[in-house]
Amino acid sequence: MDLSRFPYLQGNYAPIDEERDFNDTELTVEGTVPENLVGAFMRNGANTAYEPIHYVYPLDGDGMIHSLYFNKGKVHYRNRWVQTNHLKTEREFDRTIYGSPGKLVPVPQDVLDAGGEPSPLKNTSNTSVIMHGGKLYSLWEGGFPHLMSAGLETVELYDYEGYLRPGDALSAHPKICPVTGELISCTQRTDGDYFTLQIFDRDGVPSKAIPVPMAEKTIIHDLQICGDWVVIFYPPGYHSPEDAMAGKDPFRWDADKPAKVIAIKRDGSDIIEFETPAFFSWHFCNGYEEDGQLIVDYIWLQQIPFAKALDSGLEKQTRNMHRMTLDLHTKAVTDTKLSAIYCEFSKADDRRCGLHYQYGFATASNREWTDAHGYNCTVQFDMETGQTQLWEYGHDANAGEPFYVPNPDSDKEEDGYVMCFVYNPGEDPFVSVLKAGCVGDGPIAKIHIPGRVPNGFHTGWMQGLTLNG
Ligand SMILES: [Fe+2]
Repeated sequence: MDLSRFPYLQGNYAPIDEERDFNDTELTVEGTVPENLVGAFMRNGANTAYEPIHYVYPLDGDGMIHSLYFNKGKVHYRNRWVQTNHLKTEREFDRTIYGSPGKLVPVPQDVLDAGGEPSPLKNTSNTSVIMHGGKLYSLWEGGFPHLMSAGLETVELYDYEGYLRPGDALSAHPKICPVTGELISCTQRTDGDYFTLQIFDRDGVPSKAIPVPMAEKTIIHDLQICGDWVVIFYPPGYHSPEDAMAGKDPFRWDADKPAKVIAIKRDGSDIIEFETPAFFSWHFCNGYEEDGQLIVDYIWLQQIPFAKALDSGLEKQTRNMHRMTLDLHTKAVTDTKLSAIYCEFSKADDRRCGLHYQYGFATASNREWTDAHGYNCTVQFDMETGQTQLWEYGHDANAGEPFYVPNPDSDKEEDGYVMCFVYNPGEDPFVSVLKAGCVGDGPIAKIHIPGRVPNGFHTGWMQGLTLNG
């Protein structure tokens, strides 16, 4: 595979070609693994199996999940590809077949004739991984989720037993309400002038579908529960599959247009539209409802961070934690930069998703981006005091998304843990275990893996999940 022309397949962005297991005796632990944790810390990411036709970070690459299973102080590492129909077809033909959202290509006739996956848009299943209603899902925003076993075997492409229609795309960032156990997600289609807010009950059974008008198809990546409401951003950024198939740049950013912010009442009784100057955001941190306002913390970017060109440099633009307030009565919007720290992949304690909270976490950088490297720190935001704490893993390190892992013996935010995968040249890759509330003190444990773990995307904690179920 010649990956030399792809900036985001260099260094620790390059894929690995092995599925591996390392047991407790093969992993090296610095510090102490919390003994009361039983569950799995997982991270999805792009790990292209065949030389790409085109590769725009962070849209491309076959999904691979890396998991660290915790069981009373012992740990086990496993990584597995998500066996999507697209990947299985490429494996069957042992060659590259599919393009990418930046450059779609027709599926060759011999592949169609042989019954290979017919859709030119690859469901990479590379973005995130969640557990809900006792099921483990690998997610990608452009298509159906994949159901995974506890041990990371791909069970099936999952349409909620026929509920999702062909062409429905489930977001990669559903939220689980800690009060009701509901999973709230957003289904988009390329046809129609609306998207659908989907609510599944605590067992994963579809319970409500709220159509939300959407005259223009903007790029929606995340959503946020705020008490009884859900907030979605409509940035003036667009993707045209027709242009992608025609070889034109399919991505468009309309800086003169406002961004819209949509607040949807979770019972479907109200939809309120707000307007702000143009901005882009990949990710929320958390949000809540207070005194007739929705308070929304998120990562702000000036504009869409990618283009068809492989070396656009847009991915490196500044991004910061912001707080937006939405007045439900006056429709007034305020927006405040909370910190100058350059950060992305924001998270909070999921037990407080949609509720008032104190701590936010993100991956952060305290250095200039001179190449395709990303973030070398974990940051903690105290939303009550405005104070921040930063832990740097090394100047040239890459720190992945930090996930808040609750301490099963405490409901205090500061008693939990924050975990992320870290690459630091000169040492084996590791999962960093930080103490929430004092991230600036550095890891209480570093669990080293004797093999490379490429940089990736979203993480999750699967409470109670073990290798065997
Ligand atoms: Fe994301």
